[in-house]
Amino acid sequence: MLTAAELAALRQDYAQRGLRRTELDPDPITQFNAWLHEAQDRQISEPNAMTLATVSADGQPWTRTVLLKICDARGFAFFTNYDSAKARQLADNSRAALTFWWAGLERQVNITGMVEKTSAEESDAYFRSRPASSQLGAWASAQSEVVTDRVQLERQFRAALEKYGEEEIPRPPHWGGYRIAPATLEFWQGRRSRLHDRLRYTREPGGGWKIERLGP
Ligand SMILES: Cc1cc2nc3c(=O)[nH]c(=O)nc-3n(C[C@H](O)[C@H](O)[C@H](O)COP(=O)(O)O)c2cc1C
Repeated sequence: MLTAAELAALRQDYAQRGLRRTELDPDPITQFNAWLHEAQDRQISEPNAMTLATVSADGQPWTRTVLLKICDARGFAFFTNYDSAKARQLADNSRAALTFWWAGLERQVNITGMVEKTSAEESDAYFRSRPASSQLGAWASAQSEVVTDRVQLERQFRAALEKYGEEEIPRPPHWGGYRIAPATLEFWQGRRSRLHDRLRYTREPGGGWKIERLGP
């Protein structure tokens, strides 16, 4: 275990570059895609991994990592189990937040917005593109439910394997996507002395975007 002093001393100064308002694209999705591309080019592991925050009916926030699978003008989509804890929370409260942290680039992107399910066609298309083992996993696992032991999980996987064999595996009705339509997106670039650059886009009623610099 790290001592309290070791933990307190863990810090890094960020010095790679700055972020100016003039270099931002007027469209935040285009800006996001440029950063995601750079993360991919820099071989950052799982650059599309994002922390998803949801809030349950009692006001408790919850977070977990999911993978961004579609990013376009409509927003940021990921795929999951529609009976999972996150799905229950999104049914109670469709406001969500996302965070990307690309340590190798000293960059963070924070997004807030409202969530909607992706269309059945989009969920089908993405499900078909997954490896068969992942498709079977979607049938085998009751995500977020208590599991007696690992053996039970593996038995359910084998049952799904025996049921579908070599056939095309259909998308389970309890599996599909969600899309966050962004209301705000903040681009954060680490700087020296904790004087980081923070630039936030906020969706305006007319459909455009306002860009503001925030204090670090
Ligand atoms: C890198 C990484 C990527 C993940 N991607 C997904 C994903 O795309 N969809 C998903 O349902 N779970 C994904 N998970 C698992 C989730 O973090 C989480 O354990 C699961 O969705 C259950 O969350 P819930 O009980 O809050 O609903 C991922 C985990 C990690 C560490």
